Amino acid sequence: MSEIIRFDGVHKTFGDGPRAVHAVDDVTLTIGEGEIFGVIGYSGAGKSTLVRLINGLEPVTSGTLVVDGAEVSALGEKRLRSVRADIGMIFQQFNLFPSKTVAENVAYPLRVAGWDKARRDARVAELLDFVGLRDKAQVRPNKLSGGQKQRVGIARALAREPKILLADESTSALDPETTRDVLGLLRRVNAELGLTIVVITHEMDVVKYLCERVAVMERGRVVELGAVYDVFSRPQQEATRRFVGTSLRDRPSPEVLSRLAASHAGHLVTVGIQEDTGSSARLMRTLGEHRVDGAIVYGGITEIGERPFGSLTLALTGERAAIHQALAELRSFTDVQEYPELEELR
Ligand SMILES: Nc1ncnc2c1ncn2[C@@H]1O[C@H](COP(=O)(O)OP(=O)(O)O)[C@@H](O)[C@H]1O
Ligand SMILES: [Mg+2]
Repeated sequence: MSEIIRFDGVHKTFGDGPRAVHAVDDVTLTIGEGEIFGVIGYSGAGKSTLVRLINGLEPVTSGTLVVDGAEVSALGEKRLRSVRADIGMIFQQFNLFPSKTVAENVAYPLRVAGWDKARRDARVAELLDFVGLRDKAQVRPNKLSGGQKQRVGIARALAREPKILLADESTSALDPETTRDVLGLLRRVNAELGLTIVVITHEMDVVKYLCERVAVMERGRVVELGAVYDVFSRPQQEATRRFVGTSLRDRPSPEVLSRLAASHAGHLVTVGIQEDTGSSARLMRTLGEHRVDGAIVYGGITEIGERPFGSLTLALTGERAAIHQALAELRSFTDVQEYPELEELR
């Protein structure tokens, strides 16, 4: 896959001196042409700034940023404007013109680009067909549902046939069902029109559904980067673990843990489940070989691309030494979390 976006040691700093904000802090990553790439992070992590660098809405402070062959980090404002025209963007709040009809909203970038009316009309009809809103052409946005508004946003972003679509929290204002709908449309934009899509989100489910690779951002930095399955099935950073936890709810909270400790005899441990290395069958077999009993008391398993992952929390009973040995063996192929703080309560 050839690359279409490359960040190389990119920094974006707002202000200077002690009050400087390092919104993007030494980011290096590449995005392949035709890929759906996810950027996940909590509020303030620097996600929006990262996409605003891509389309030149903010200049890079230092480092190199190349977008579709153009080194945007070295371009002046005038050239940046032309790069911007080749990149579509959709927003959480849709950003439609309330007084314009759906058709006029979609036609707007074409009007700005100087297309004549006949060509504009033909293109708008084609776009509204693609997003399934042909019958809403003459309606104003306030008559549309949230999902329909975002479809208009997508049609408008596609108007000038960009190669890249930036989606900044594009489903965060939508209910789960409408979210699926819009995400399905983004998949079609990628599969049928071949656009590279950069998806910014704070929801793991969005990344899980859409993306091939993901970058996890925290305080301006990319703290994890890789294939979605790899990043989420073996999170290395606390932030990533929290994203998995909020989507999967597989790990017990401290409150749940103390309740479990009170109501179950045995040693509580949480064991990671992954394809190949950490299957639940292998887990149970290992415990059996050491004559350790494991009652499953909490957990969650899901899958990405038909590959399972998650975790199980077990209350282990058996001889102390045997439990110790079983855990050592489990650690050789998966991650094991123990809770020493609970032992102190006993
Ligand atoms: N124009 C700006 N001026 C000053 N600080 C900014 C500006 N834009 C963003 N920031 C700061 O940069 C950091 C990252 O913001 P942002 O990129 O919006 O994060 P996210 O989209 O992940 O919530 C935040 O601390 C934010 O306050
Ligand atoms: Mg943001």
